[in-house]
Amino acid sequence: MPTPTYNYTGTVVLVTGAGRGIGFAIARDFARFGATVFLNDIDSARASRATAELVKQGLDAYAAPGDVADPDQVAWVFQHIDTKAGRLDVLVNNAGIEPVASILEHSLEDWQRTLDVNLTAAFLCTRQAGKRMKAQGGGVILNIASIAGKAQPLYLRSAYAASKAGLVGFTKEAAREFAAYGIRVNAVCPGVIITPMTERLRQNPEQMARWRSEIPLGRLGEPQEVSALCLWLASDAASYVTGVAWHVDGGKNMA
Ligand SMILES: NC(=O)c1ccc[n+]([C@@H]2O[C@H](COP(=O)([O-])OP(=O)(O)OC[C@H]3O[C@@H](n4cnc5c(N)ncnc54)[C@H](O)[C@@H]3O)[C@@H](O)[C@H]2O)c1
Repeated sequence: MPTPTYNYTGTVVLVTGAGRGIGFAIARDFARFGATVFLNDIDSARASRATAELVKQGLDAYAAPGDVADPDQVAWVFQHIDTKAGRLDVLVNNAGIEPVASILEHSLEDWQRTLDVNLTAAFLCTRQAGKRMKAQGGGVILNIASIAGKAQPLYLRSAYAASKAGLVGFTKEAAREFAAYGIRVNAVCPGVIITPMTERLRQNPEQMARWRSEIPLGRLGEPQEVSALCLWLASDAASYVTGVAWHVDGGKNMA
């Protein structure tokens, strides 16, 4: 199959949680097609390393470290983008955490932090991005949710599933409200993707065998298979597509 090509030259993209994993792949792939990318991560050394890797490849990348669950740090990230680039065309709310705990033993602190990072951060960044995109006359927002928030309960991940289901609901509200401003908003719901987040489970042979038998395409996904969907959703090829939560999961959930 031919690989699609895109022209993102002149497009400014912010990806949260881009220091590694899916977020890094998304930032890298937008940059490969010409975008100026800002890589946010709560781990500033990780954000700097990831950015340096892209700059070394001749790509246009800037680090924008900060905790996206903190409104003040979010404000700093957007001021940094204003200063360096003066516009924002694509926001990818990707930063996420996945605590594992029984509901019976879940601490309120961990529950709240999960909602803050996986859901409230998307609201904080969307509020900042939405103002800029409205003034510019358009833009694209992509929320990296999960099949856990839509179709597929995991196990011992109640806060995660609740936050991701909330993110899907928020996506539809934002798509409805922002349509009038030419801003499209979609959610991307990955299945099991090969990143540090899934590393511990991938070391368990029984878990791997279970996944392979449950996933019709017979394998886990690669980060670039998530970014491929993001590249399409942010492009003019998807100009009539908004308010949808897309599965990218090898066919695990066909709802
Ligand atoms: N890997 C999967 O199988 C999978 C499946 C479904 C959904 N997702 C979602 O995709 C997104 C990326 O997942 P991943 O597998 O690449 O995870 P990862 O843990 O490998 O990377 C996440 C990055 O986000 C950063 N981060 C965490 N909290 C942050 C905060 N408050 N502010 C800024 N950065 C923060 C981390 O430092 C890390 O670099 C997450 O939202 C995750 O829930 C992943």
